[in-house]
Amino acid sequence: MTTERKIIVNIATSGDGYIARPDGDIEWLSSRPAPKGFYGIPEFLRTIDTKLFGRKTFEHALRTGVTFDTKTRNIVLSRQPPPASVPAGIEFVTEAVGPFAERLRGTEGKDIWLMGGGGIIGAFLDEGQIDEFIISVIPTFIGEGIPLIAPRHRLVPLQLLSAHTFPDGVVQLHYRVQKT
Ligand SMILES: NC(=O)c1ccc[n+]([C@@H]2O[C@H](COP(=O)([O-])OP(=O)(O)OC[C@H]3O[C@@H](n4cnc5c(N)ncnc54)[C@H](OP(=O)(O)O)[C@@H]3O)[C@@H](O)[C@H]2O)c1
Repeated sequence: MTTERKIIVNIATSGDGYIARPDGDIEWLSSRPAPKGFYGIPEFLRTIDTKLFGRKTFEHALRTGVTFDTKTRNIVLSRQPPPASVPAGIEFVTEAVGPFAERLRGTEGKDIWLMGGGGIIGAFLDEGQIDEFIISVIPTFIGEGIPLIAPRHRLVPLQLLSAHTFPDGVVQLHYRVQKT
């Protein structure tokens, strides 16, 4: 029996709900020492085989020297033609989010990690294409920034699956998006 692949956001936010400063800076997050177990990310990685990036998140990662794990598919969503050259293992997709997500779910594989940022999360959410959110709330306010989900009027009920507290004060909330 095959179960449908889930699309899951697994992301960290500041205590006031931002994923990055207005200029994309995530030093407030990346400079924190992580406790043993790294917030369950190694286990989570075993459940996915595809990562989806908004174009801005991809470019921020490139600028900051992040290397991409080529053991997973890495797909960047953009509405523009892809750049002339992209690092090995990166695919650009310009298809609309809804049909793209349906097509991806229809192929064999593990779950899919929607990495962010807020723009692409908003687009997937509004197409009903996010199954779960795992949100690690960092005990720091940053005052202003890029929100977890690009703002617009919404009402999206969530079912809390678990809440886990780590020794450094991070709280990880695992929600299922209720299909309406
Ligand atoms: N805290 C964390 O754990 C975390 C995780 C991930 C990202 N981030 C941070 O988030 C920041 C970027 O977030 P962001 O919200 O500005 O950008 P984003 O979501 O990463 O990228 C937005 C881009 O996605 C593309 N896109 C394709 N289809 C779209 C659609 N239907 N609707 C909207 N966008 C679509 C567009 O690219 P084109 O303009 O090319 O068309 C759009 O400009 C970065 O600084 C990154 O470091 C933080």
